[in-house]
Amino acid sequence: MPIDFSGMKKINEGKTKVIYENSANTKTVFMVFKDDITAGDGVKHDVMQGKALIDWRTNKNIFEYLNRHGVRTHYVESPEEKVTIVKKLDHKINLEVVARRVAAGSILKWSKVAEGDRFDPPVVQFHYKDDPLHDPMLDDSYIDFMIREKKSSEYADMRNMNVAVFELLEAAFAKFGVQLVDFKLEYGLIDGKVTLIDEITGGSFRLWPYAKEKPDLNKKNVIGELNPSGRLDKDTYRMGEDLKAVGDKFAQIAVITDGFKDI
Ligand SMILES: Nc1ncnc2c1ncn2[C@@H]1O[C@H](COP(=O)(O)OP(=O)(O)O)[C@@H](O)[C@H]1O
Ligand SMILES: [Mg+2]
Repeated sequence: MPIDFSGMKKINEGKTKVIYENSANTKTVFMVFKDDITAGDGVKHDVMQGKALIDWRTNKNIFEYLNRHGVRTHYVESPEEKVTIVKKLDHKINLEVVARRVAAGSILKWSKVAEGDRFDPPVVQFHYKDDPLHDPMLDDSYIDFMIREKKSSEYADMRNMNVAVFELLEAAFAKFGVQLVDFKLEYGLIDGKVTLIDEITGGSFRLWPYAKEKPDLNKKNVIGELNPSGRLDKDTYRMGEDLKAVGDKFAQIAVITDGFKDI
């Protein structure tokens, strides 16, 4: 019997998910995926049939892989299609935490890096999560000050976790001939500890297939080793491709992450 959400209390509704109270276990909540896809901080918006199911599957595969590898996440289980049970947040941290291995997207506009420049270790940036303000980036010196002077260990934890998660996911995608270029994640406090929350789906990252079977990914610039025009991620949507093409790409991500079960 599918779970009936009609009588359940909706706690929150965002761009891609609805959160319902779980009266059977109040330390957890239900996360229900929607068919909506957005870009430009919600300015561009479409409903894409089947997206909820694809995102649910990608998210399940990725979080189960991360849990198995010891990352502290909110993910508990996915009891039926489009529905995931997660530990309820005690405190939301209103940040999007970005990690970048390869320079792409917005960083090219404000930094003197070329597309494809490689960062080792991956760079981490904090953005204040606010759509009308377009998620402004926080200054590194502010983050360093908060960690050193204010002993605000949450920032240090998020920085470390973001790199650890990046390296785990990069290694997993590498097995399927795909480079994880960058991603943005969200964190919250659960039982007083910094915990990875929200979702990780096709809209969370950039994924570029390898351009050759054995690319040299230790170069200073790896653009020639990768195939950005074969991108599998939400940039396809941002760049205006039709929804069918975007759906096909997201489905390919779901298929790849199905393979994470064995690693
Ligand atoms: N473990 C959790 N407990 C409670 N709320 C959560 C949890 N994980 C994510 N959320 C919340 O779910 C809401 C909906 O998510 P989403 O659709 O991604 O929103 P947004 O449009 O803000 O990105 C967000 O407010 C997010 O903070
Ligand atoms: Mg979100």
